[in-house]
Amino acid sequence: MPGGCSRGPAAGDGRLRLARLALVLLGWVSSTSLPSSASSSTSSASLPAPAASGQPALPGRCPAPCECSEAARTVKCVNRNLTEVPADLPPYVRNLFLTGNQLAVLPAGAFARRPPLADLAALNLSGNRLKEVDAGAFEHLPGLRQLDLSHNPLADLSPFAFSGSNASVATPSPLAELILNRLELPAAERQNLSLEGMVAAALRAGHALRGLRRLELASNQLLYLPHDVLAHLPGLRHLDLRNNSLVGLTHVSFRNLTHLESLHLEDNALKVLRNGTLAELQSLPHVRVFLDDNPWVCDCHMVDMVAWLKETEVVQGKGRLTCAFPEKMRHRVLLELNSSDLDCDPMLPPSLQTSYVFLGIVLALIGAIFLLVLYLNRKGIKKWMHNIRDACRDHMEGYHYRYEINADPRLTNLSSNSDV
Ligand SMILES: *[C@@H]1O[C@H](CO)[C@@H](O)[C@H](O)[C@H]1NC(C)=O
Ligand SMILES: *[C@@H]1O[C@H](CO)[C@@H](O)[C@H](O)[C@H]1NC(C)=O
Ligand SMILES: *[C@@H]1O[C@H](CO)[C@@H](O)[C@H](O)[C@H]1NC(C)=O
Ligand SMILES: *[C@@H]1O[C@H](CO)[C@@H](O)[C@H](O)[C@H]1NC(C)=O
Ligand SMILES: *[C@@H]1O[C@H](CO)[C@@H](O)[C@H](O)[C@H]1NC(C)=O
Ligand SMILES: *[C@@H]1O[C@H](CO)[C@@H](O)[C@H](O)[C@H]1NC(C)=O
Ligand SMILES: *[C@@H]1O[C@H](CO)[C@@H](O)[C@H](O)[C@H]1NC(C)=O
Ligand SMILES: *[C@@H]1O[C@H](CO)[C@@H](O)[C@H](O)[C@H]1NC(C)=O
Repeated sequence: MPGGCSRGPAAGDGRLRLARLALVLLGWVSSTSLPSSASSSTSSASLPAPAASGQPALPGRCPAPCECSEAARTVKCVNRNLTEVPADLPPYVRNLFLTGNQLAVLPAGAFARRPPLADLAALNLSGNRLKEVDAGAFEHLPGLRQLDLSHNPLADLSPFAFSGSNASVATPSPLAELILNRLELPAAERQNLSLEGMVAAALRAGHALRGLRRLELASNQLLYLPHDVLAHLPGLRHLDLRNNSLVGLTHVSFRNLTHLESLHLEDNALKVLRNGTLAELQSLPHVRVFLDDNPWVCDCHMVDMVAWLKETEVVQGKGRLTCAFPEKMRHRVLLELNSSDLDCDPMLPPSLQTSYVFLGIVLALIGAIFLLVLYLNRKGIKKWMHNIRDACRDHMEGYHYRYEINADPRLTNLSSNSDV
């Protein structure tokens, strides 16, 4: 408790400075006054920096809204509504919890300090309403191993957020674990922004994340995984894509992830895994794949996957996987299906898509027939139009005439007189 947590009393500084000033002015070199002034303030005695510098933010102190423990090398600034990263982080910090604040923007070099925070290894920035993370935001943190940016509405993640701010120089990142769960973008911003593309660009940039071992992207409503993103992360051991909206993995290559140990794909929208994906997963030496709670479609396209499931040891809890569609197959266990169960019934539209295509063709045909009929009757229609126009003209003229009669006061008088 003592030491790290205490903010040095300002009065002690002032006294020390005054004492030094007095020493210089009077030219006394006294061996007794220095220890006495140092003993009046225990925290400033351990400071390497000269107290005469007069800066309020001295290294080794704890930033005002935070709690620090030098013994645990931990600084916690939790739920304090901070709008920027504290400037005076102590140099011993290894674990920094900066969570539940209102940072909004993380500029380049947000953690660059002099001397650098060389020991900072775990940085938790979850729940900070972060919208923007700029290029080089984590620069000058040579020991950073784990970064948690979850629970932030990240609409503007720079492609160079995890590499250097200088795009022309590929700076390898020391990161081993990157946690990007629940990047809760407002629905309006999702409309014209691809979270998939933005995250992929940041993971790709400059091959900076070659050393990454764990990547978490759970609960992000991801619709697809950009095809080449994993190729840039060859060191990956753990990939968590739980609770997204992935429909298929056809365009994703796992081939180079030879170290992959766990692949979490629970709670997605997967319908079937195709031959290519099955072969790639089977070729990874250490992998465990988690596939629960996906809406598997048990039609003729499922045959290969069912055959693979019966053989493979890669899928964890493979006996739990059940069909969601079509209706007659619902809740059937995938492992217990025979290929005779798996057919594509031509009478039932296998998906909504084909029925829409069919509807489109029918509508187009009706439209074409209608135009043809119009074309064949073009003379009749012309005549008909003329007739209508003439009828209208006659009618309008009659109306006009009557209106003029009514509008003419003399004629009105005439008619009223004649009534009398
Ligand atoms: C943070 O802001 C909220 C709302 O403005 C307020 O209720 C809360 O007390 C503030 N917390 C601190 C630590 O200032
Ligand atoms: C970061 O902090 C949040 C909120 O306290 C916590 O839920 C999460 O587990 C932390 N992340 C890591 C990697 O410890
Ligand atoms: C980026 O790095 C290159 C090569 O080291 C250097 O020439 C250039 O000035 C740097 N640019 C910036 C903006 O620092
Ligand atoms: C997204 O759309 C809004 C308006 O709906 C617009 O103001 C904004 O500039 C668009 N953003 C991008 C990145 O296109
Ligand atoms: C799944 O993700 C959604 C947001 O995409 C979130 O609201 C929901 O709580 C998540 N569910 C679980 C079990 O994490
Ligand atoms: C896999 O890695 C090798 C080299 O390690 C590389 O040449 C190849 O392009 C990578 N494959 C993919 C699909 O990225
Ligand atoms: C998938 O692979 C199996 C054997 O490896 C083969 O019999 C089957 O025809 C393949 N399926 C497709 C759709 O290519
Ligand atoms: C699948 O076929 C095997 C023999 O080919 C049969 O014994 C088994 O009952 C069948 N299972 C189902 C669910 O039809």
